[in-house]
Amino acid sequence: MTDTTPIAIRFLTSMAQALATMSLYAERHPARARAAVASFDVLRDLQAIDPRPSFSFLGSDVVYGQQAIRGLTDWEWAMKLANVGVQRLEFADIVEREAYVSFLEDVLARVSAFTAIAAANAPATVPLPRGTGPTAIRFGAVGVRGSTDHRATEAIPAEDASLLDLNAEVDAIRWVHDEVDTREEIPLLEAESIVRSLSVAMHGDSQMLLPLLTLKEFDQYTTTHALNVSVLSMGLAEFMGLSPREVRSYGVAGMLHDLGKVRVPKDILTKPGKLTPEEWALMRSHTVEGARLILQSDQNLDVAALVAFEHHIMINGGGYPDRHFRCDCHKASTLVHVCDVYDALRTKRPYRDAWEPGATLAYIERGIGTEFDADVAKAFIAMMGKWEPRLAVANLSPIAA
Ligand SMILES: [Fe+2]
Ligand SMILES: [Fe+2]
Repeated sequence: MTDTTPIAIRFLTSMAQALATMSLYAERHPARARAAVASFDVLRDLQAIDPRPSFSFLGSDVVYGQQAIRGLTDWEWAMKLANVGVQRLEFADIVEREAYVSFLEDVLARVSAFTAIAAANAPATVPLPRGTGPTAIRFGAVGVRGSTDHRATEAIPAEDASLLDLNAEVDAIRWVHDEVDTREEIPLLEAESIVRSLSVAMHGDSQMLLPLLTLKEFDQYTTTHALNVSVLSMGLAEFMGLSPREVRSYGVAGMLHDLGKVRVPKDILTKPGKLTPEEWALMRSHTVEGARLILQSDQNLDVAALVAFEHHIMINGGGYPDRHFRCDCHKASTLVHVCDVYDALRTKRPYRDAWEPGATLAYIERGIGTEFDADVAKAFIAMMGKWEPRLAVANLSPIAA
């Protein structure tokens, strides 16, 4: 098998060069077209050996197909493209020259608009591209393969917390779920990038910040909950003094803990009334299903798979899947369990209102020794005592059409 990575790198470099050159000349100047065509030639070479190349730009990372491109770490264009909503770029078919040139013009227009907005110090409002037309080039937020149902996050800063925009992370998590649903495969590198990016949001200030989302619409529960449990799990792991590597792996596990719910019918997930025994059995199967999906996708995700399997098991052996002995669960599972319960209770559900923070922490305290591991639960309560004033709550709301 030929390694197509070097030519993929050459293509990305040529694209960046073309965009940089094009930005120096006025519209319709022949130098613009020349620069675009030079890059198109490299794309043609790439498509000769990889007809459907795809790229993700997340933070400072570049992913080509299923692999991170090391040589391009901190490549400034990864950030520039992600900033203007081009987190994902796919060539679904052999590309015509005109289509590629107009794609570059489109990207350049977005980059210029973003730069102007940034210079004016205004909030970024560059609309996300809807690159899912029937063309060979698809680009957009990470979800280009899925729906174009993008949402914006509108941040409500807590006290001195700076304005938060978790839009990219929310879209990326939704895309990860869609990928698992349609391809039974977890895009691991993208999942890790989301966790890294959340970690940056948590440490962007001099003090720790927990960027959590509040739920506006019930159908956004899965995404909101995945993000919140990931943030809380990383916060707690860090609070408990775990290594940065463990913190990240707990963040991935927190994000994927309910992945098995992609296999549970939506009407059961959002049913306002009591579940029938059959429905309840299906609901409980999300633990086993999640572990299976994660393991079959990547053996290296063993902690995440364990957490998916164990996060509803209580410390006294209760909960599910069924066990007849006290929990000897992985530490990550006991930790995600507390974060999971906290976020679930704090969130308004179709059948009940959101719980107040005090009542939620009191519930966790009462569950010490029966439902929750004592060290973990006490640490969680202490963490919330210390960091709850530093919660930055971001709302999810539909983007204006
Ligand atoms: Fe769960
Ligand atoms: Fe959960």
